[in-house]
This record gives sequence, structure tokens and C-alpha cells, in this order.
Amino acid sequence: MLSSSLRMWLSWCSILWLAQSSFQASVLGERSLTALSNDAMAKLLTTPDPVKNIDPRNPSSHLSKILIPRAPDTQNNTFVRNYLISTLKGLNWHVETDEFEADTPVGRKKFANVIATKDPDAPRRLILSAHFDSKYFPSYPMNQVRLLHAVIQYSLTCLQFVGATDSAAPCAMMLDAAEALNPLLEARMKRIKNGSQLDDEDEDVGDLTLQLVFFDGEEAFKDWTDTDSIYGARHLAEKWDTTYISPHTKRRLMNDVTTELAAIEHLILLDLLGAKQPLIRSSFIDTAWMFDHMVAVEERLGTNGAFAYDEEQSMAPGKWTSYFVKRNKDIFHMGGIGDDHLPFLNRGVSILHIIANPFPRVWHSSKDDATALDIPTMRRWNLILRVFLAEYFELEPKGSKSRSLNDPEEEEADRYVARSVSELSL
Ligand SMILES: *[C@@H]1O[C@H](CO)[C@@H](O)[C@H](O)[C@H]1NC(C)=O
Ligand SMILES: *[C@@H]1O[C@H](CO)[C@@H](O)[C@H](O)[C@H]1NC(C)=O
Ligand SMILES: [Zn+2]
Repeated sequence: MLSSSLRMWLSWCSILWLAQSSFQASVLGERSLTALSNDAMAKLLTTPDPVKNIDPRNPSSHLSKILIPRAPDTQNNTFVRNYLISTLKGLNWHVETDEFEADTPVGRKKFANVIATKDPDAPRRLILSAHFDSKYFPSYPMNQVRLLHAVIQYSLTCLQFVGATDSAAPCAMMLDAAEALNPLLEARMKRIKNGSQLDDEDEDVGDLTLQLVFFDGEEAFKDWTDTDSIYGARHLAEKWDTTYISPHTKRRLMNDVTTELAAIEHLILLDLLGAKQPLIRSSFIDTAWMFDHMVAVEERLGTNGAFAYDEEQSMAPGKWTSYFVKRNKDIFHMGGIGDDHLPFLNRGVSILHIIANPFPRVWHSSKDDATALDIPTMRRWNLILRVFLAEYFELEPKGSKSRSLNDPEEEEADRYVARSVSELSL
């Protein structure tokens, strides 16, 4: 059931959208994004329950499965990797792993990135990514027997670094987005394969698919250097840069796309998310429009009351504050923060980096566990990502904006909206 206030803002959104759409410029790969229909939006916000997948209180949530110590080349890392693989295979995604070995300051280690693609035949991909490994902390020397007991106690209580914001929560949010968008993505694939999706205007988005990349080995084993960090991202970027797409595969080809790397439209990297009130900054000019659209999605959802959750009223309309630092149109924070995006950025891939800056206070401490996570915050991220991605992929066919015209509540809502909009335009 939709509350009447929810319905009201949904109408409000579609009208605001009409007002805005004429301002959309087409520069730097920027394109206009169409707001979802009311029905699709309402369904997307509630299905699946936006808390279900990121609930640390529920031992079978996606988050709980990931939220264990999972440094590279350990059984737990393999457990999490297999969990990601089986979850996405269960949603009928094409899943592959990129497995390799590399020398680290603590010896040779095995790594495996997980790559899940909704439509492997699509010539271009939007990547949503995060790292799934947790930081390795060395154990203490075990040769002194009298210390053994203390060390074991210490290890059990303090050295169980689980990297809740870094980046278990972002990985769980990615699985949430995959689950929420899956029916819409499948319907879209059917339309594309049937040839009924594409009119001229839609052609650019029609040949695009969503890909999830879970990087292994993001963390340094000792101190962060160029060679001791982002093992998985460095390996995958180099591999894709030298993997030529064969014209003989059944994949639909575009002329300018020659390598797997060149087929990446944008790479969105999530990191250090899940703690209360993060601050996100736009780092790259070519994705400033995507940043702005994410801000606009947040604004629409917040104004409507979609962020208020349970007893928590700090996110109610009029009370919530944005997670995004308003972009100064003249200043771009070029370069940004060292992370998995760098080897892609250096090869020309367009990056949207969604990372809390400043870092969460618990960063790289044993306190980065479930207690660092805020459920209303993670729920809000899920809603923002669901709506942002659905609009990015135009997951609704044109002309499906269905609304019953004779619903008195809705007519009242429309009058209210018309009034608000005319007031706004004064
Ligand atoms: C592996 O994960 C479990 C929780 O599922 C944890 O109790 C255990 O300590 C972890 N093992 C290592 C070596 O970190
Ligand atoms: C393709 O789409 C058209 C129009 O929606 C529909 O009538 C037709 O049955 C579809 N064909 C297939 C093979 O799905
Ligand atoms: Zn880290």
C-alpha cells in the first residue's frame, strides 16, 4: 500500500522531472536520465525490504555473511567469495573470477576478484564495485609460552578486524541493488533481445549492462604503497586493457570498443560506507553529472520522507541533511583518494568514487565492526543506489507511466503538486 503522502511526492517528482528535463545538457558523456514511473518507484523502494540485506542483527543477511575477517588467501575470504558467487548466480547473473597470485610483504598470496555481469553479450558496462577483502593484521609472536594465553585472548577480542564500513557494508549494498533491480534488468534484457526496447534516442543505453566487481586485495599487508595495495584492481585493469574483444564472439560489437577496458562506460566505486552521516565529494569532472544526479535522487527521496525509518526521525523531511558536499562548479578535486579505481583511472576509465571523506572514525581499527554501522544510513544508501541505477539504465520502457486517473486522492495530490511547483517557480 502506498501512503497518500508517498503518492503525493511521487507525482511531485514526475512533475519536477518535466520541469528539469529541458535543462539537461549533453556534454562529457552526460545524458538525461528519466525519472521512474510512480509504480516502479514505489515497488523499488519497498521490494525487497531495504533493511533485509544489510541487517547485521540477522545472521543470514548478506551483510552478516560478509562481515567476518576475510583477508586475502584465507578460508574466510574464500567463503565470502563463494557467497558472492552463489548469490549472484542465484539471481541468474553471469559470474566469473579473476584468480592470480602476487608477491606481498608477507609472502606470495592468492587473490580472486569476483565479476558478475547481468548481460555478458552487451557491448558496454556500467560497473558498480567495492573491495570484499578485509585488512590483514599480523598476529603476535607465538614463541613465548607465557604470552600465549594473553595473545590468544587479545587475538580473539581485538584482532578480529572485520572491516564493516571497509567494505562489507558496500558489498552488501551491491547485492541489495542486484536483487532489487534484477526483475527490471531481466525485463529490459527481454525487450532488448526482442528489439522492442530501442528507439533512436535509447540506443546508447540499450547496449549497456550492469556489472558488479568485488575486488580482492585492496588493503595493504603492511603500509600502503604502489606495490602493497589494490592487488585485485591492478590485476584486473591490466588484464582487461590487454583483452581484445573478438569480432567473432556473439557479443554485440560497437566500432570503438576494442578491449574489455574500453567497454567500461563508467566505474562506480563504493568504499567506507555504512557509518552515520558520511560526506561524499565529487572528484572527477567527467562524472560530475552522475554525482549531481545522485544528489538529485537523494533530494527527491529525502523530501518525500523515504529516509525516515522506525523510531529514527533524524532523516524525516526537513530534518535530514545531505550526504553529498555541494559541488563547486569551478573546482574539481582532481585525483581524489587512493583506492581501487586508480589503475582504471590511469587507463582512461571514467570514475565515480563514492567514499566517505573524512574516513569513518573507526577506520582500520577493531571498532570497524557491526557497531560502527547505522541501519537507517545503510537503508538510505540502498534506496539511493536502487533509484539511481534504475534511472541510469532506463529500466522502465517508455510510455509505461501508468497512473489511474480517477483516484480522488491522487487528483488532490496533483493539485497540491501543481500549487507547489508554481510557488517554486516564483
Ligand atoms: C573466520 O570467520 C569466523 C566467523 O565466521 C571467525 O569466527 C573466525 O575467527 C574467522 N577466522 C579467521 C582466521 O579470521
Ligand atoms: C516482442 O515484443 C512484442 C511487443 O511487445 C510482443 O508482441 C512480442 O510477443 C514479443 N516477442 C517476443 C519473442 O517476445
Ligand atoms: Zn581499508
